[in-house]
Amino acid sequence: MSTVKPIYLDYAATTPVAPEVAQAMNACLTADGLFANPASDHAFGDLAKGAVTKAANALAKLLNCNSDELVFTSGATESNNLAIKGAFEFYAARLERPHFITSKIEHKAVLDVAEWLEQRGVLVTRLEPDSNGLISAQQVAEALTEDTVLVSIQHVNNELGCIQPIAEIAKVLANHGARLHVDAAQSVGKITVDVVELGIDYLSLSAHKFYGPKGAGALYVRSQPRARLRPQQHGGLQQQGLRSGTLPVHQVVGLGKAAEVANESLAADMQTIGALREQLEQALSELDGVTINAAGAERVAGICNVSFDGIAGDSLLAGLPHIMLSSGSACTSDNGEPSYVLRALGHDDRSAEASLRISIGRFTSAADIEAAAADISELVTQLRSVSPWWQLDESAVLATAMSLAWGDEAKLLRNADGSLSWKAAGRGELLAMLPIALTFYEKHGSVDGLVAAIEVDLEIATDRRYLLLLVEDLFRELDSQ
Ligand SMILES: Cc1ncc(COP(=O)(O)O)c(C=O)c1O
Repeated sequence: MSTVKPIYLDYAATTPVAPEVAQAMNACLTADGLFANPASDHAFGDLAKGAVTKAANALAKLLNCNSDELVFTSGATESNNLAIKGAFEFYAARLERPHFITSKIEHKAVLDVAEWLEQRGVLVTRLEPDSNGLISAQQVAEALTEDTVLVSIQHVNNELGCIQPIAEIAKVLANHGARLHVDAAQSVGKITVDVVELGIDYLSLSAHKFYGPKGAGALYVRSQPRARLRPQQHGGLQQQGLRSGTLPVHQVVGLGKAAEVANESLAADMQTIGALREQLEQALSELDGVTINAAGAERVAGICNVSFDGIAGDSLLAGLPHIMLSSGSACTSDNGEPSYVLRALGHDDRSAEASLRISIGRFTSAADIEAAAADISELVTQLRSVSPWWQLDESAVLATAMSLAWGDEAKLLRNADGSLSWKAAGRGELLAMLPIALTFYEKHGSVDGLVAAIEVDLEIATDRRYLLLLVEDLFRELDSQ
């Protein structure tokens, strides 16, 4: 590797707090600062309340709304829960089978709420994205029923960076009673988000995605025409009763300061970060077999999702310990499953695993990108040199397996260009192989023996699951003859 310096390229998972944000938060913690309860009826309380109002004004400016349309929460997860459950509780009570429309590639903080609603009798439609991760207004229009209470579509996808056509979706809903909720955790502070222009009823955001603190967020709730919801948290009736609990002044001030900085630096950030992503994608595209996912969609500047043909995904992340990035969303990568977002775009498990989400932010430098691109390219090239799939088609890998298992019966040919091909595909030969294949299974009991034989005899690394699929394919083919 050309560098061992750690490089942070996971800004979509979270961002560091901006220095001016940390400073503003720090001034709200200790006895000499704005530590008081903003609901307290005394001078210190008034000072804290003033700081909260200032923060709300900065955030309202960023979203083009009024500050009294904002409810402070602990982040986008809570905002999503409050908006979706709250809207259903308010509007769906009189409906026999209320209906919810969302997409298959929402964040879990929406998908799991959808499942929760489903368990309580709500009919849920999960729209399929196109190959660029986009949901169209037409799809929403076709899914609408007279019982549709709410549509929830994210603004920017957290893995792909694609920007959904929210204004068009809102237009479809304009003549319908259904409300529009938008999870904007990945767009606020990164692209212009104008709730009026976009026609949004509820919008969720998280401060830590744009250089504010973790554990702070907000829900925008439209006042004209009024979007309603039932509170999900009960107590001291703070925030017009929509979200009880003492306001954490330092968190709210941090969120407000992050919004203030974004108001000033959004355009410049977009330009610099966009140029860095261009640099990264150009460098990675010098390799063969690279797909930039959702490249056909308009994307937020900081996210690059890239798949590499012919390698195993776990070796990819394991080979880049000094680069902080993820193979999917950090929020769901704990479960070790291949990304459901990439699978919804048509990737198989292997391709979804051999993908990286590289996300760039305000503190990324051109040197970081240059080093990361060089290290990723070097690793991919190295992994491909020992990969049985790279530039071998599936039948060639199968032929390798067959030739080892059945010797002369399957004719494995090496072509002039060095590639392998399989020449035993005739119906008669396949039929003749059936008893041999069965003998092979009797002898080895499983595909493991075959994998070991290939690894030892051919000195190539094999992927057990992949080989298993190929051998299963062979048996299916034999079955159908
Ligand atoms: C699109 C999207 N929605 C919601 C969330 C949840 O945000 P938080 O964990 O701050 O509540 C995230 C965070 O990854 C996200 O990317």
